[in-house]
Amino acid sequence: MKRNKEKNTKTGGIPTGRLLLLFLKGSKGFFAVSILTSLAVAALDMVNPQIIRYTVDSVIGSEPSALPAFVNSAIDRLGGPAALREKLWILALAVVLVALVSAVFRYLQRLYNTKAAETLVKTMRDRLFRHIQSLPFAWHMKHQTGDIIQRCTSDVDTVKNFLSEQLTSVLRIVIQVALSLAVMYSMNIRLAAASTLTLPVILLYSAFFGKKIGSRFRDCDENEGLLSAIAQENLTGVRVVRAFGREKYERERFRAQNDKYTSLWLKLSKLMAAFWGMGDLLSGAQVLIILTLGVQTCLAGEMKPGAFIAFMTYNSMLSWPIRRLGRTISELSKAGISLRRLSDILSSPVERDRENACEPDLHGDIVFDNVRFAYEDCPELLHGISFKVKAGSTVGILGGTGSGKSTLVYLLDRLYELPADGSGGKITVGGVDIADMRARYLRKNIGMVLQEPYLFSRSLADNIGITRENLPMEEIREAARIACLDETVCSFAEGYNTFVGERGVTLSGGQKQRAAIARMLTEKAPILVFDDSLSAVDAETDAAIRKELDSHLGDATVFLISHRTSTLMNADWILVLDRGRLVEQGTHAALIAAENGLYRRIYEIQRAGAEEEKGEEASGREDPGETTSEPEKEAMEGGESRE
Ligand SMILES: Nc1ncnc2c1ncn2[C@@H]1O[C@H](COP(=O)(O)OP(=O)(O)O)[C@@H](O)[C@H]1O
Ligand SMILES: [Mg+2]
Repeated sequence: MKRNKEKNTKTGGIPTGRLLLLFLKGSKGFFAVSILTSLAVAALDMVNPQIIRYTVDSVIGSEPSALPAFVNSAIDRLGGPAALREKLWILALAVVLVALVSAVFRYLQRLYNTKAAETLVKTMRDRLFRHIQSLPFAWHMKHQTGDIIQRCTSDVDTVKNFLSEQLTSVLRIVIQVALSLAVMYSMNIRLAAASTLTLPVILLYSAFFGKKIGSRFRDCDENEGLLSAIAQENLTGVRVVRAFGREKYERERFRAQNDKYTSLWLKLSKLMAAFWGMGDLLSGAQVLIILTLGVQTCLAGEMKPGAFIAFMTYNSMLSWPIRRLGRTISELSKAGISLRRLSDILSSPVERDRENACEPDLHGDIVFDNVRFAYEDCPELLHGISFKVKAGSTVGILGGTGSGKSTLVYLLDRLYELPADGSGGKITVGGVDIADMRARYLRKNIGMVLQEPYLFSRSLADNIGITRENLPMEEIREAARIACLDETVCSFAEGYNTFVGERGVTLSGGQKQRAAIARMLTEKAPILVFDDSLSAVDAETDAAIRKELDSHLGDATVFLISHRTSTLMNADWILVLDRGRLVEQGTHAALIAAENGLYRRIYEIQRAGAEEEKGEEASGREDPGETTSEPEKEAMEGGESRE
């Protein structure tokens, strides 16, 4: 589960263009309105300087109007420039009206921009979530939860900001610059050319700084991620931190990272301050140049004062957008990285069933045929395991930690897949290769209780009844009764409505396991797997649950995984696993009869341990979280490291 950030960003995946189109679904219309309204804003920005120019040159002065013909005829109807000279308020009103209309368009632009961005980001999240839901279990095990969440939040936001803020503003800037330049060239070519020549300097300057700022931003982002990872780990692992008195150490660790993060931000703000300050200086210098040239042009009689004022206004409209454009170019790379990180997820292949995948009856015999398996980038773990489980029977699996017991049942549930070319053997149920079945169907028909069950932050009833919608309360209680949980639940003040998990009651390990068993029982699946799921309940409860299960499981085929021989002794058949090899199999009676057998040795050690314990006081054993007694542990260790 290492961090694959670097590697992943290089793998590419879906082409960026296609990815964007994918996300734009549903928000294209909003984007179109947003772009059109920004066009209108840019165009309206051109108007007021012309009114000023007309006022100065033709109303106050006596130059012929440079306004379009339809405006001139409207002015003539009002009585011409002479009449306007008497009623200057009309010109003022025109300026205000233009500003008003412009404000309305700005409002619409903002509104539709937000609509576009939010629709887009919603599409993105939905798509990501849907995709992540259908990615293979192996993918989830390989990726860090924090990393996936960061991609789905921060990276989505970066892309959103880019599309909504940067992209539309780039469009607006390009239009604004183009319009300003066009008007400027129409007013005075030489002066306009001078202004144009200075623009690349500003653009280069801000692109250069923009890149630097971009990389500093990235540093900050990454360090923010580290900081929140420390906080998150501490919150979820609060018990370990308290129990081991690690508060001081954790505080120091947080402080160190916090310091680093803060200093990075300070460095970034220094750079930003320099960027904006020098940028202002540069823009000022540019204005100075045009001002000097403009004054000369005016003095030479090539330009009227009003036109000059208007020209300077357009010129000043150029500088800011150009600086902004430089920053945006650098933002582009940031958004590009985020997009690639998203496309990594979206282009990871989802689980797919084979063509003509079937849904056969799963009440048949289960056969593992020479199963070999290795986790990705790991040495082989299961070395050619073959066995047969009769339909409706109970098979016990005994083995030390890490011997591959859980892996065996993951393969049965197709949480991990055997190689498609058959080199890893195959698993069949009722003669049908599980690889040919629909994965969802297979999993629905295999009830699994994992060693460390996960309960959702919901009520107990909801947790147990999660397998089917609107499960009647009687069925939930019946399942809980079989799992020996009903009595415990009834002792809770709120019974089955007790809220568990975060911000609720914390169940003991054994209670959680029993809740998980109850949850699995409601599924009524033909194949049931108990993966060390009685490890946290004491021996008596273990026996009681098994007794209940025996009389309620009917014709289900059961896999019972445990490190306790006492849990397994009543199974119809027992498999003994040692470091990925099936070293013994048989009934309990046959296995303890075998001289020097691993099973027999473990059985004897565990029995001796149990008797010793019986001699001691039996109180306080109601439901301890961890009940593996020392001798048992030793017995398992012995099993692991014999020779
Ligand atoms: N997703 C994984 N990737 C790599 N190695 C794994 C993965 N899951 C388990 N392992 C390794 O495989 C071995 C067997 O694990 P497991 O089947 O859980 O054993 P058991 O259930 O018998 O304790 C262990 O050494 C474990 O570290
Ligand atoms: Mg296990």
